[in-house]
Amino acid sequence: MTRVVEGLRIRGKKVGCVPTMGALHAGHLSLARASVEQTDVTVATIFVNPTQFAPGEDLDKYPRQLAEDADLLAGVGVNYLFCPQTDVMYPPGSSTSVLAPKISKRLEGEFRPTHFGGVATIVLKLLNIVGPHVAYFGQKDYQQVAVIRKMVTDLNVPVEIVACPIIRDPDGLAMSSRNVYLSAEQRQIALSISGTLREAKERIESGNRDGYEMVTEMRQRLIDSGVTSIDYVAVANPDTLETADPIELPVVLLIAVYVGKTRLIDNCIVDPS
Ligand code: PAJ
Repeated sequence: MTRVVEGLRIRGKKVGCVPTMGALHAGHLSLARASVEQTDVTVATIFVNPTQFAPGEDLDKYPRQLAEDADLLAGVGVNYLFCPQTDVMYPPGSSTSVLAPKISKRLEGEFRPTHFGGVATIVLKLLNIVGPHVAYFGQKDYQQVAVIRKMVTDLNVPVEIVACPIIRDPDGLAMSSRNVYLSAEQRQIALSISGTLREAKERIESGNRDGYEMVTEMRQRLIDSGVTSIDYVAVANPDTLETADPIELPVVLLIAVYVGKTRLIDNCIVDPS
């Protein structure tokens, strides 16, 4: 993979990289399309990274469908697919990791304390192997993009990070590989996540500035809709992810909940425009 991209770079080609864990949906494919449009050659990666899953999370049952994924990627014009085995990425004795930046400690970090260390480590490894000019990530994982941007800045990784908008199903549910775990009934409940974000956004746009009250109401709306449990609901500064109370625009609204055993996250930016 490294040699292929070196050859491309020597020939003056601009290379884009789209890291994923597979089980691809239109959200992933939107990143691939952005790369295909904006660069000369696109490399997608599929690797279900064990170090970002905690014990008891869904590593073993994470959906895997490599042949189908390869077809989907080829269909949108992706040129190369890098899908290494676990022991290639983490050979026996591999023991160095990236300490995720401070911004990883809030929100997701409170509930998945080892997650972003695993993400930062694998993303740095993939970027080192592929060596792209640009790498594409989704705003769906808002804090992940923030962590990766900071890691790339702090460690002087020579790559441009591009964040792409959240792709949703027509009913509003943010696309996720984990949505396949949901029953029809659970899916209805899961719709309250985007519904809660949309309503909160409208209330902020119509002048509500009480962050505490906003979070309380959002939590209540989620509970009333039948979510199983709430990890966090936050109204936060989009750069620092610190609580925004009183609300000063722009803010980002973030939600992480369980519907049954499935953990779902979503977010939405509210800006002055
Ligand atoms: P994965 O969950 O497979 O997501 C791969 C990329 O697709 C991420 O950048 C994610 O934000 C983006 N994505 C997922 N759902 C999206 C949606 N509905 N709209 C837009 N983009 C979406 O995120 C990971 O994998 C891993 O942590 C990874 C970065 C690959 C490191 O292992």
